[in-house]
Amino acid sequence: MFTIDLNGTPYHTEEDMNLLDFLRDEMKVTSLKNGCSEGACGACMVLMDGKATRACLLTLAKLSNKKITTVEGLSESEKEAYTWAFAEAGAVQCGFCIPGMIISAKALLDKKPDPGAWEIKEAIRGNVCRCTGYVKIERAISLAAEVLRGEMQIKASAHGGVGTRLPRIDAREKVLGTGQYVDDMFLNDMLYGAVLRAKYPRALVKSVDVSAARAYPGVEAVLTAEDVPGERYWGFISKDWPVLVGVGEETHYIGDALALVAARSKKIAREALALIRVDYEELEPVTTAAFALSDGAPRIHSKGNLLSTTRINRGNPVKALAEAKYSVTQTYHTPFTEQAFLEPESALAVPQGEGGLTVYVGSQSVYEDQHGIMSILGLPSEKVRVVSKLVGGAFGGKEDLSVQHHAALLAMHTGKPVKLTLSRQESIRVHPKRHAMEIEITTACDEAGRLTALIARITADTGAYASLGAPVLQRACTHVGGPYHVPNADITGWAVYTNNPPSGAFRGFGVPQVCFACETNMDLLAEKLGISAWEIRYRNALEPGMTMATGQMAGPDTAFKETLLAVKDIYQTSNFAGIACSIKNTGLGVGVPDTGRVKIAIRNSKVIVLTSAACVGQGLATILIQVVSEGTGLPPEKFEVGAPDTFLTPDAGTTTASRQTLFTGEAARQAARQLARDMEQFSLAQLEGKEYLGEYTGQTDPLDSEKPNPVNHVAFSYATQVVLLDNQGEVKKVIAAHDVGSAINPMAVEGQIEGGIAMGLGYALREQFPLEKGIPTVRFGNLGIFRSTDMPEVEVILIGKNRSSLAYGAKGVGEIATIPTAPAVASAYHRYDGRVRFCLPLADTPYK
Ligand code: FES
Ligand code: FES
Repeated sequence: MFTIDLNGTPYHTEEDMNLLDFLRDEMKVTSLKNGCSEGACGACMVLMDGKATRACLLTLAKLSNKKITTVEGLSESEKEAYTWAFAEAGAVQCGFCIPGMIISAKALLDKKPDPGAWEIKEAIRGNVCRCTGYVKIERAISLAAEVLRGEMQIKASAHGGVGTRLPRIDAREKVLGTGQYVDDMFLNDMLYGAVLRAKYPRALVKSVDVSAARAYPGVEAVLTAEDVPGERYWGFISKDWPVLVGVGEETHYIGDALALVAARSKKIAREALALIRVDYEELEPVTTAAFALSDGAPRIHSKGNLLSTTRINRGNPVKALAEAKYSVTQTYHTPFTEQAFLEPESALAVPQGEGGLTVYVGSQSVYEDQHGIMSILGLPSEKVRVVSKLVGGAFGGKEDLSVQHHAALLAMHTGKPVKLTLSRQESIRVHPKRHAMEIEITTACDEAGRLTALIARITADTGAYASLGAPVLQRACTHVGGPYHVPNADITGWAVYTNNPPSGAFRGFGVPQVCFACETNMDLLAEKLGISAWEIRYRNALEPGMTMATGQMAGPDTAFKETLLAVKDIYQTSNFAGIACSIKNTGLGVGVPDTGRVKIAIRNSKVIVLTSAACVGQGLATILIQVVSEGTGLPPEKFEVGAPDTFLTPDAGTTTASRQTLFTGEAARQAARQLARDMEQFSLAQLEGKEYLGEYTGQTDPLDSEKPNPVNHVAFSYATQVVLLDNQGEVKKVIAAHDVGSAINPMAVEGQIEGGIAMGLGYALREQFPLEKGIPTVRFGNLGIFRSTDMPEVEVILIGKNRSSLAYGAKGVGEIATIPTAPAVASAYHRYDGRVRFCLPLADTPYK
């Protein structure tokens, strides 16, 4: 018999088990989260006799006479203090880390009610946040401390429409852990799914014997490739990814699925997996793009090993290079990196009605999920409803199907609800990464330092499946020229299949890699010219009406030079300052259909905002409320925002390409205009039941357009970041000047930039994703993610001169925040020790 004192109440259990499993699965205490199960993330933090402790590392046997406290056990005044402080400071994004943060904060404040800044950092060092960069979390803990000391009253927060620092509407449920992520759902009769993954990245599957697993007590279904009723391959653009690898086929990477199990408990499901016998013929994996493209390399897919090629040619780069006064040619290497969103993938599929299903997901698009599931199950759209729960971070890694289709298959076969949640290690193996790239780049200029030619060759390792590899490569090619006027360009890129884990979307979408190359070359060119790294950028900066390497003209909203001017003094007066700039498109562009949609419904005199656009942590619901509030004059408390749901909300496309604030924001503005017109004559009560649909489609030209100045994207954001090193070579401050157009919510924009910088610093200094013959050798704890004590001071400068009425002048910010950080850090080390570094993460820094 084991006894646990949980939030002041004793509970007894016969079986010794892991504390995290006990609390979540048995007690349904779901404020604490399972982010890794290995003591590395802090999402499971509880107080054990007042000390912040990771529940995943404890078993019940170790807890006799110990008091366990979770967020549910906080006093009402503590709950109010933390909720207000985290909302007021803008400290909540995806929210998955937040209850764990609150526990660590409480452990600190109970002992030290008035902590210093460093003590706060140290208190949350064990809690990873992949979204916020910790800046606003630390501020929130400090605010909460003031409230709890009685030195500050909880007061009304900012209120209103566009441009205000309106606190997020989902802050309370994320702070107190009452909001539901998929894995927090439990249904009667629910089964647990598990997936048998490939043993080798490349092997011929000769047989799969599931008979022992099927006969195992508690197992309700074991499925193989033969059990897929619809299309067995899926993919956004190329349908090359098998739902399950069949007998007689080759595995393509270590995350391939071979069999699915549904069982009455997680434990039984895991035990059943171990009973499945697969006979493989192991084959040598193709693990580099160079080998994949070499003569005689094994063909990974029947069409060959080249997924896509992108070419951009403008002007006469050969002549321009021959006539250039200075040129720099270098080759750069960037690694795979892992999104490391804090919430591992989870889906719950529930049979509904006559052969239908509802699938609860935490992904980047409920409609993309629905289309995938429909084709795999062979069902029409009215039989597949996909509903989003909270999404615990995504960063591009939750665009592809990972668990949704497998849970749906198991639910359809068993007729029962099936939840499938990946372990952290499985998540690391399965979802697409940031592409590793090799970039050879020549940058040339005239005597005055004006760029004359750019020649680039980009090779991207796109791994086992297409995913979004082709558009990622395209964005790398369109952005390798940077935010500069480039009159002559010759750019070619190749996305190459290997047997490594797939590469796909990841914040920046191919641009962080090429920005590192482009910007380091700019520094080297400045050296040859004898001018500063700031000066060469300023001389070449895009201004309205100038053309980019693609031929697109910079629009009137372009405020790139303003970002450079904002950091000029700090850059020029600091010893070890590095600088880098970037440009990033908003929206899919290049002629791809791209539409945001919002429906406003009046119900019970409330304004309900409905859209399928996913909030993956960026705070979209709050942004939409601000837009509609601005357009109608109604106060924010009049609004509610519905969850994305393919049966209830209009299709607003995927949360990707920094597009939702502009595209869905503009759709919301249009819907609000219709409502505002009606409100001139009628009260909300009189409009009861009315609905207003807003829709915005961006019109763009394809990349191969014949137009001299095509419009490949509807908007671009710009940024300049300066990184300052101290005398020991540690990063002491990052100053980030961003042209975001017009900030709908400056607090949310700052949060995106601070979080992006934390990710960019990790990319620059520590993060990598080592593979041994195609097999990842990392765990969550050694991915190299920045923790609170690693973070330097961050100063955000928001610049915008966008007077466009489109979404009140907003431009994307989600991705660009991460892009220039790594080259700015490289630039700083160049000034610090005189060495130029051509690979990420940077060598010989105090961070390795
Ligand atoms: S789940 Fe316990 S530390 Fe990550
Ligand atoms: S808000 Fe911290 S991980 Fe998302």
